[in-house]
Amino acid sequence: MSLTRIIIGKLHRQWITYMMSFRYGRWTLRRVLVGSLGLSFLGIGIFAFYSIVFTLELLPWNPRVNMWCDTEKVPEYMLQAAPDEMTVVTMFIDLGVFKKGEQPLAYHSPYKYKRWMRTFGKMVNRVVAYIENEEDIEYFKKIRSCLPPSHTKVIKIHREELPSFKYLAQIKSIYSLPSYPKYHPNTVYPEYSCAMHAKYDVLQRSCIMDFFNTPYIAWVDIGLFRSLDGTDYPLFKLVPPDKFNPERVGFSQAWPQDPVFTPEFVLKNKLVWVSGSMVLATKEYMLNFTRDYKEAVNELLDQGLSNTDQEVIYAMYSAKMRKAHYVKIKTYLCHPGQLGLFGPASRYFCLGYVCKNAWDKRVPHIRNKISGVARDHR
Ligand SMILES: *[C@@H]1O[C@H](CO)[C@@H](O)[C@H](O)[C@H]1NC(C)=O
Repeated sequence: MSLTRIIIGKLHRQWITYMMSFRYGRWTLRRVLVGSLGLSFLGIGIFAFYSIVFTLELLPWNPRVNMWCDTEKVPEYMLQAAPDEMTVVTMFIDLGVFKKGEQPLAYHSPYKYKRWMRTFGKMVNRVVAYIENEEDIEYFKKIRSCLPPSHTKVIKIHREELPSFKYLAQIKSIYSLPSYPKYHPNTVYPEYSCAMHAKYDVLQRSCIMDFFNTPYIAWVDIGLFRSLDGTDYPLFKLVPPDKFNPERVGFSQAWPQDPVFTPEFVLKNKLVWVSGSMVLATKEYMLNFTRDYKEAVNELLDQGLSNTDQEVIYAMYSAKMRKAHYVKIKTYLCHPGQLGLFGPASRYFCLGYVCKNAWDKRVPHIRNKISGVARDHR
């Protein structure tokens, strides 16, 4: 029994020593508490600052634009219209900051889109851009200011006048149903769905207006070439891939297609077959594709089904919904590492880089420059 008492006594004395050192030593309890609290706040502060600036990019100013024409000139052969010249159509509607994906801190902000938009400054295609705010129009024009003014057509739009935004209330009521599956932002943020459908409104409008009289027309997302932004890349141009069948509409294939899935299953499970980042066709086929797309959106909404363009296109080409007159789709599949693309970029942005590469291959001196780089690294 005395052994227990000795042990207890020892522990007790040890405890008193600890308490004394906390209270009266260099590391008093108060100091330790204040110190660790201070450190935590500093840590949280640094993390918050880092997230706001680099992850969320919630910055109230515009990214700096590279005025490459101060030192470089566009070669004449890039400005001339190729026989298979492609008009690029894009749009920027400020949807504010919204959650993109299900991971924490996965958000998109207007600053991020504007940073990605800068890649349009080195794209020597004729571009039609549909933009809502005057400041955003000025910013886009500044990005394009190193190219001849005749290569850019900016059209001011208001979202309420785009046919797809007429569905806003109907989409809102579908997404507000507790039983409707929730994916950020696809089936949570009705304006996002409307903006995705609106791609096909402005594509259709561009086919009809035919500003540049080019045989091909393509939708290109503002962010398709995001991975080039911040790197030193040369001027580039998009042309249809080699042997592109002019009776097809071209897309990147993100995932395999299973035509057995019903439209309801596709939309409620956010299934993706082709990427909506780029749509390529001749004007005539694009006009038919946009018309069929818009009819499909309408048909699905009538069944209480809504999502973004990627799911709608998957549903359109399912066995249940596909119509005999639909334009056939040609998919482009990139393997990881192909054309410098990795991860989701190789699945979603393939066609954009295939078109960029198709032009690069036509220009011998750029090819020499690339192989020169490869030699340097050997
Ligand atoms: C487009 O659709 C119209 C009407 O369905 C059809 O007559 C025409 O042949 C189609 N054009 C092309 C290029 O598929």
